[in-house]
Amino acid sequence: MTTNRIEGIGACVFDAYGTLFDVNAAAQHCAAELGDKWQPLAELWRGRQLQYTWLRSLMENYADFWQVTGEALDFAMEALEIDDAALRERLMELYLKLDTYPEVGDVLRRLRDGGMKTAVLSNGSPRMLQAAVDNAGIGDALDAVISADEIKIYKTAPAVYQLAVDQLGVTASQICFQSSNAWDAHAASNFGFRVVWVNRFAQPRERLPGNPDVMLDSLKTLPSIVGIAGS
Ligand code: LAC
Repeated sequence: MTTNRIEGIGACVFDAYGTLFDVNAAAQHCAAELGDKWQPLAELWRGRQLQYTWLRSLMENYADFWQVTGEALDFAMEALEIDDAALRERLMELYLKLDTYPEVGDVLRRLRDGGMKTAVLSNGSPRMLQAAVDNAGIGDALDAVISADEIKIYKTAPAVYQLAVDQLGVTASQICFQSSNAWDAHAASNFGFRVVWVNRFAQPRERLPGNPDVMLDSLKTLPSIVGIAGS
């Protein structure tokens, strides 16, 4: 991961949760009710949400990301002995309008202004993604919002990454894919995308197939990495 320039890119494609939107924000906004349980809740919730997507994909028993997110929350709340239906409802509603990382809007617009196609490619259900994009006010800066729901299997299945190739009209190697989720960054690289791992939480590298091209701690310098002048 020594390159700081990725050549020949025609489209920048972004993972949603953790990359554009802060997945901890829902629990954090309920810190007054949750007290010191907000962080363990956020971690357990996210952990189970991801595991359920992978396990359901292996079981060939798909349910959309809204259902999976709710079931993961139920697990996390029970594990932490939080029995509060109104709080559950509030946490799920907050998941539809998660905070957006501060640099996201500006970076997307700079890419767009520089002639780059931009898209989201996420496990999120179409309704969840639309709500998050609307809440962030970034719809005008995106050419496409692509959901794994179209094919009813989750990343890391290669068929999900293929959706971006099919819908953006570029080859896999012309796509620069950004994810803060290391497992996603590796899988996207393994598929054939060029990859920027947005290592927001200073995690160690995963021992998985694939080799992300560049590691950043935010999206700020992405435009210059893909050759957009003036950044
Ligand atoms: C996404 C997740 C799971 O696909 O981060 O947006």
